[in-house]
Amino acid sequence: MMSELESIITSRRTIRIPKSDPIDLERVYDILKKASFAPYHSKVEPWSVTIASTLEEHQYFLKCVFESYERNQILADYSDEKVKKIKEAYEKVMLHTPVSLIVATDVFQDEKKDLESICATSTFIQNIQLLAWQKQIGAVWRTNPYILDDQFRDAFGIAASKRIIGTVHLGYFDPDEVPEPKKRRPLHEWIGRVDETREFSTYAANDERFK
Ligand SMILES: Cc1cc2nc3c(=O)[nH]c(=O)nc-3n(C[C@H](O)[C@H](O)[C@H](O)COP(=O)(O)O)c2cc1C
Repeated sequence: MMSELESIITSRRTIRIPKSDPIDLERVYDILKKASFAPYHSKVEPWSVTIASTLEEHQYFLKCVFESYERNQILADYSDEKVKKIKEAYEKVMLHTPVSLIVATDVFQDEKKDLESICATSTFIQNIQLLAWQKQIGAVWRTNPYILDDQFRDAFGIAASKRIIGTVHLGYFDPDEVPEPKKRRPLHEWIGRVDETREFSTYAANDERFK
């Protein structure tokens, strides 16, 4: 039998189009507080979160997204008609999403510290997704091109000593419309044993434990 933790980890799915029902911000703060028990390996926790929860805040977010795409010519190869459709699709989803989080992490200009910063904040984001799921709130973690745009980061007052590593969009979901799980590869394809021959020595494919 699965524990509650195992069940939350394995049943969670990315929810890209949530219901527009509002989420009580107290619930979001509670999720963030608990998610912050993620591991980290810097002096202080490396993450920061900027929250959009009202229509006006989401409109500003969207304006910054489109300005970033314009500045960086992200949609330059598309026809005007296609660009219009993309923008409408963004508006439809974004302006109906109850809560969006812009998650940034510290940059130290040091290979190891920067890796640790991104790793820590990634575990923090996964904690958010799991804690949200437990409350019937779905999440999508997005890494659209605007997260790499410094001017987009500046538009939210996020310090230049940080980089955005994702946006996380939250909303309640219909339990009857949870997407099918994306297939996971069997263990035998991706776990190996330490082997002095320097080969990636995998486990037997016909062993039940590794299927
Ligand atoms: C680092 C990272 C970036 C992601 N970026 C996007 C994204 O930009 N757009 C999107 O629709 N999903 C994004 N996802 C969600 C993945 O597509 C999703 O987790 C994957 O398809 C597996 O599905 P599941 O989360 O339902 O198990 C991202 C996930 C991760 C971990």
